[in-house]
Order: sequence, then C-alpha cells, then structure tokens
Amino acid sequence: MDTTTLDTTVSNADFLATVATKSDGAALRGDYTHADEHYVVQQNWAAYTEEEHELWRKLYQRQMSLLPGRACDEFIEALLQMNAANGIPEFEKTSKELYAATGWTIVAVPGLIPELTFFEHLANRRFPVTVWLRKPEEFNYIVEPDVFHDFFGHVPMLFNPVFADYMQLYGKGGLKAMKLGGLDQLARLYWYTVEFGLINTKDGMRIYGAGILSSGGEVEFCLTPGTTSRHIHLDIERCLNTLYKIDSYQETYFVIDSFQELFDGTAPDFKPYYDKLKLGEAFPANSLLPGEVELLP
Ligand SMILES: [Fe+2]
Repeated sequence: MDTTTLDTTVSNADFLATVATKSDGAALRGDYTHADEHYVVQQNWAAYTEEEHELWRKLYQRQMSLLPGRACDEFIEALLQMNAANGIPEFEKTSKELYAATGWTIVAVPGLIPELTFFEHLANRRFPVTVWLRKPEEFNYIVEPDVFHDFFGHVPMLFNPVFADYMQLYGKGGLKAMKLGGLDQLARLYWYTVEFGLINTKDGMRIYGAGILSSGGEVEFCLTPGTTSRHIHLDIERCLNTLYKIDSYQETYFVIDSFQELFDGTAPDFKPYYDKLKLGEAFPANSLLPGEVELLP
C-alpha cells in the first residue's frame, strides 16, 4: 500500500491524480469515469462478450481441476452453490444469496480503489469486485486483480459466517490503522490471511486465501513439501511484522487452525502492535525466528 495517499480526506480527484499512473507508468486498467463517490459502478453484465465468458469457463475449469483436496471445504461448498461455472456471473444474483447467508453484498468497482473506500466497504459488509476480465494471454498471471480473482477467489469465503465477520473486522481495523499509521502492518495481515492463508483441517492443510485459490501454479506449490517456502502457525504480531513477495510465490505461509482463531486474534486493539513495530525493522519474507516450528504441508 502506498502510504503517501493515505490521508483520510482523500477525494476522488486525489486518488485519480495519484494512482491513475502506476509505478511502471501504465494507467490503471479500469474505467473510472462512471464511478460514484464510493467507486461503485454498474456491472453491465450484458456487455461481456462470448469470448470473455469462454475465457472465464476455462479459468474456472482449470482451477476446479486443481482445487479438490487442496482448497478448504468451506470454499468448495460455497463455490459449487454459486453456480459460477458457465460464464462471468451476474453480481446481483450472487449478492442476494450472499446477503441471505451472511449479510454481505457484492459491489461492482472499476478496479483498484483507495484504501479508505476499500475499508469502508468491508466495514459495512460490502465486498468490491472488479468488473473487467483479464485477456487470454494473461491466463496464468495478472498484475492487477480482475473479476476472476475477486469473484472466484474471494466471494465464496464470504458465505462462511466466521470468515465474513473477520472481513468486516478487518475493514474496521483498516479505518483505525489509517489514523494510527499502521497501514503497512495491517496490509501484511490481509496479504498473509485473506490472500495467501492456509488452514489446518482434519483432512490436512488446505487453502483459504484468494490469491492462491485463483492462481494456477501456487495452488500446488503452497502445499508441496520440500520447497524453500516455510509454513508456520499464524502469530498476529509476527505476521504484522513480516514483509511479503508480490512477484513470486510466497516464501512464508501462515497457517491457522480455525477461522474462529483468525477472528479472535484480530479482535483486540492493534495500537500496541503498531506502536511497537514502527520502532523496528520488519522481518524478511523468508525468515524463521528462534523457537518457531515449521509445519509440514
Ligand atoms: Fe484479492
């Protein structure tokens, strides 16, 4: 996250001025011209082409050939109920089902949105889903989150009541962190749980993180024993203080025993963590600290 844009008074104009060009000089991919003050747009489902629906089906089928026995049951069961196999789904339909299950809704967004807006959506049980789909040549890798990552990867877990509560808590924590200067730390928790989290189950270690669930290669890699990546039990303070990789598979995976553990660990006030961690150096992504035990995937 870019801390230079994190003033809580940030406006649409500020956001567009500061992040309309990324570090590589390319413009953000989404069309922000019709976004409202919460960065919400219409999905405009009728505008998707048959080629885009076909690409979605291929992405869906590839992931479903990899996920059984690797994704957690909560994800698989919710995904199958969502009926998302036949093409890019209509957000409104799934949103109604999601609201009935856990009180969350889906809102369509043009792409990346400011942190403040993102946290406000989560704090109000709204999950922002990007409307555009990647190009065929990006089948295996995409830099910015698209509709496949956001919808396929994230939405099924929101049908789980405890995980859904965790996500709201995270959003409220984000709003607090903005005022406390803790955003770098809190972003790491999102990364290592919501995006790249693993969970111990009675059947073995399983994936619940959307970044893995929507990726072809990392689904297998993250559960393969003997790689250079580490698996350690989630400790909140340790996680908040651990750097992460954005351009390769993760070098550390944090593992939980239950979603309740995740919720409970996030419930306390994080201010003492931020105050302490701001004074020191963060751990590299591949570190193993004295006393830490590596878990076998
Ligand atoms: Fe994501």
